[in-house]
Amino acid sequence: MKKVYIETHGCQMNAHDTEKAVYALATAGYEQTTEPAAADLVLLNTCMVREKPEQKVFKRIEYLKHVQLRAVGKAATFGVMGCVAQAVAERVFDRSRDVKLVLGTQSISKLPNLLKQLDQGFEQAIDVTLTKDAEFSEIDLTSRRSPSVAYISIIEGCNKFCSYCIVPYTRGRERSRSAVSILEEAQSLANQNYKEIYLLGQNVNSYGLSGKYRGNVSKLGRIYEGDDMTFAALLELLAQKSEIPRIKYATSYPRDFDPELVKIMDSYDNLCEWIHLPAQSGSDRILKMMRRGYSVSEYMQKINAIKRAKKDYSITGDIIVGFPGETEEDFLATMQMVAEVEYDGLFIFEYSARPNTAASALTDSVSPALKTDRLMRLLELQNRIQNLRYNRYLEKEVEVLVEGVSSKSDDEYMGHTRCNKTVNFPKSDSSIGDILKVKIDKIGKNSMRGNIVPAQGVIWN
Ligand code: SAH
Ligand code: SF4
Ligand code: F3S
Repeated sequence: MKKVYIETHGCQMNAHDTEKAVYALATAGYEQTTEPAAADLVLLNTCMVREKPEQKVFKRIEYLKHVQLRAVGKAATFGVMGCVAQAVAERVFDRSRDVKLVLGTQSISKLPNLLKQLDQGFEQAIDVTLTKDAEFSEIDLTSRRSPSVAYISIIEGCNKFCSYCIVPYTRGRERSRSAVSILEEAQSLANQNYKEIYLLGQNVNSYGLSGKYRGNVSKLGRIYEGDDMTFAALLELLAQKSEIPRIKYATSYPRDFDPELVKIMDSYDNLCEWIHLPAQSGSDRILKMMRRGYSVSEYMQKINAIKRAKKDYSITGDIIVGFPGETEEDFLATMQMVAEVEYDGLFIFEYSARPNTAASALTDSVSPALKTDRLMRLLELQNRIQNLRYNRYLEKEVEVLVEGVSSKSDDEYMGHTRCNKTVNFPKSDSSIGDILKVKIDKIGKNSMRGNIVPAQGVIWN
């Protein structure tokens, strides 16, 4: 068998696409390797969301080529897939003469054909077709990276066109997958003993509301008549019928996030207590320029609905600092909002102008130094909040799904709580895939440590 080395950058969609690429490549006689020097094919699955990850792609190609030349005296075939491939398209070939293959975000199943073209002597192969109405290519994935947590795409693409964001250009229009096929996939994963499904979408709350949608759900139960399906209904369907013990999802879009959803999450034990609801800014003026479609007070109403819920939810988010025209006052409003929400986790990004986006026409007025200064101040605030949020778990028992060996020690396992916090603990006699109770005895910056509670160790295996 030939060998492929794949490096994945960017978000969970890309991680899931890598699984699909590995599957497609198996049909073309490739197996995955973790050794770049041993590879016949090197694929970079890329992210375009900010300038840095975009530039990184081309630096990595140079580096990996160097590794191969040093180890075996020749370079493999290089391919670029993912969001940079989609947005930069044939210009990728100009930016790196080593790249022979460019594969867009909706072309993964065409990978074997493109490789065939190269085998037949073509200099370059490219497919960056974006279609508006395509159903998902239904691949019965046997190449998932984890034996216990499985990603399931429920909606692809994005129609929001937030003024700063490239994603609608790299992932195309919104397309919801049929509820029947999502449920079938979840049931099949439950049969394979998967313990957690992680539903993926740039904006899961748009599920079923836009794009091509077909799903005759009525045959599955009395509650759902006809083809109308919302995200809340999909969650309830999966909670009732999938037999998966833990269901998580991301990302929620604040304007479309319906607090009724929280009632459904409250009602089912297998719907986990974690909501990723990115605000992006705490200034109404900036939110308007970002074209987010909500005000800070509307956002806070949704946050407060989550805080009033029956179960105790973790809320995480994303913030962009240094959007064009962001003043100190705007930034202080963001600090204020972050302090009020008390996020369990926050990704903070410096604004980066992206080609073709509406905001790229604005003057990038906040200097790089000021962006970094704001990022550091916000990070410092978040660290303090997070420490308080995490400290609540000290001496408490939490439910952890064992996902793999800890990066900190071979004697420890790593897993996540229901609210998506990372926990490390001594292996004892547990195994990957177990769901156990762990008593927390140490709090880190972005993780916790503990020990398995002996009396009721494994609660599901
Ligand atoms: N669909 C998700 C976001 C996907 S992109 C949502 O709407 O929340 C992931 C994150 O990258 C965004 O939440 C945003 O915080 C950040 N991001 C996107 N474009 C950016 C840009 N041009 N500069 C800096 N950060 C950006
Ligand atoms: Fe980008 Fe906005 Fe779509 Fe999120 S909702 S992917 S930020 S355009
Ligand atoms: Fe990046 Fe594409 Fe995801 S731009 S964040 S990999 S959708």
